[in-house]
Amino acid sequence: MKRMSFETALIHAGQAADKQTGSVNVPVYQTSTYKQDGIGRDRGWEYSRSGNPTRAALESCIAALEGVPHGLAFASGLAAETAVLGGLLKKGDHVVAGDDLYGGTFRLFEKIFRKWGLEISYADSRDPAAFKKAMRRNTRLVWAETPTNPLLNITDIAAVAEIAHKGKALLAVDNTFATPYFQRPAELGADIALHSSTKYLGGHSDVIGGLLAIKDKAVFEAVKFYQNAAGGVPGPWDAWLTLRGIKTLAVRMKAHEANAFEIAALLARHPAVSKVFYPGLEGHPGHALAGEQMDGFGGMVSFELRGGRPAADKFFRRLKVFTLAESLGGVESLACYPAAMTHAAIPERDRLKRGITAGLVRLSAGIENSEDQLADLERALK
Ligand SMILES: Cc1ncc(COP(=O)(O)O)c(C=O)c1O
Repeated sequence: MKRMSFETALIHAGQAADKQTGSVNVPVYQTSTYKQDGIGRDRGWEYSRSGNPTRAALESCIAALEGVPHGLAFASGLAAETAVLGGLLKKGDHVVAGDDLYGGTFRLFEKIFRKWGLEISYADSRDPAAFKKAMRRNTRLVWAETPTNPLLNITDIAAVAEIAHKGKALLAVDNTFATPYFQRPAELGADIALHSSTKYLGGHSDVIGGLLAIKDKAVFEAVKFYQNAAGGVPGPWDAWLTLRGIKTLAVRMKAHEANAFEIAALLARHPAVSKVFYPGLEGHPGHALAGEQMDGFGGMVSFELRGGRPAADKFFRRLKVFTLAESLGGVESLACYPAAMTHAAIPERDRLKRGITAGLVRLSAGIENSEDQLADLERALK
């Protein structure tokens, strides 16, 4: 059969009509355990930490969307990240990570895994040569987030994959901002694509979740072993909600992106704004690369206010359509202050070095009417 197109896979991959009833939606298998027909004679399901049919549908779906054989679902993006690190690495192994990362990922590296003997170093997310320079004899994993949170930097996935593989390391790419609608890292050489499905995949700010899409069977088995051994799995309702969100990913991402373009254009000409970070803008240093490796530029826009913290306080106070909140990727527009929210776990000195300044604001363009969004920003920036 011809491979399903992306939009069709969103709705059907892993989600054939239920065998028993014909239900067109995957049932919520709200069960912790399964009847066995005799000792060692289960029907393919034993215990819901090890596997659950609703979760399995989501796992098949993300694998199909990312174009790889294997998928895994977790209780959060960070649980997925933990399983990659815990399942694949051991004491004394080294990780090279891009330096512009979600603050929680940085915290996981620095406050949890370093303590267990993992070595971690950071490379300029925009510069493959910096990744190459950071590689060591014991580097087993290269980690890139692209576009990055919160500065929307673009990492060259194909170049970094080649560097990782030359050093006998795997490449994991955090694809949360782009989603497989705009970017499929495995096609560019990555071994693992990971998601906080809390964001665009779930899409409605109503569920926390994490997903992995994995190319190689042995890598998949090692991470799956960790998943079962350590827990961290989503419940069937959360898996179901995520599947429901994914069905509309294509229409939502188009709308998020169209609105983000308008927002970036408004910010770029506004006198209260000193810098705009959006890869869709021609002046963005990663614009050409994003055009090559992505099918679109996404719905996230960051910018710097000239007036620093006082201007930011005033801006957030005046917003009405945008909501000041953590997270992103939902249908509603959100605004965040990275220095005190998503990236507070990074020491101030490192934050400033990376460009996370006191005037930096991150916007997640929702899918409300664009003119309402623009009027809200104009009012708040006055
Ligand atoms: C890029 C990125 N990766 C990972 C995570 C962690 O995901 P979760 O909050 O679902 O644990 C986040 C959360 O904000 C994120 O923005």
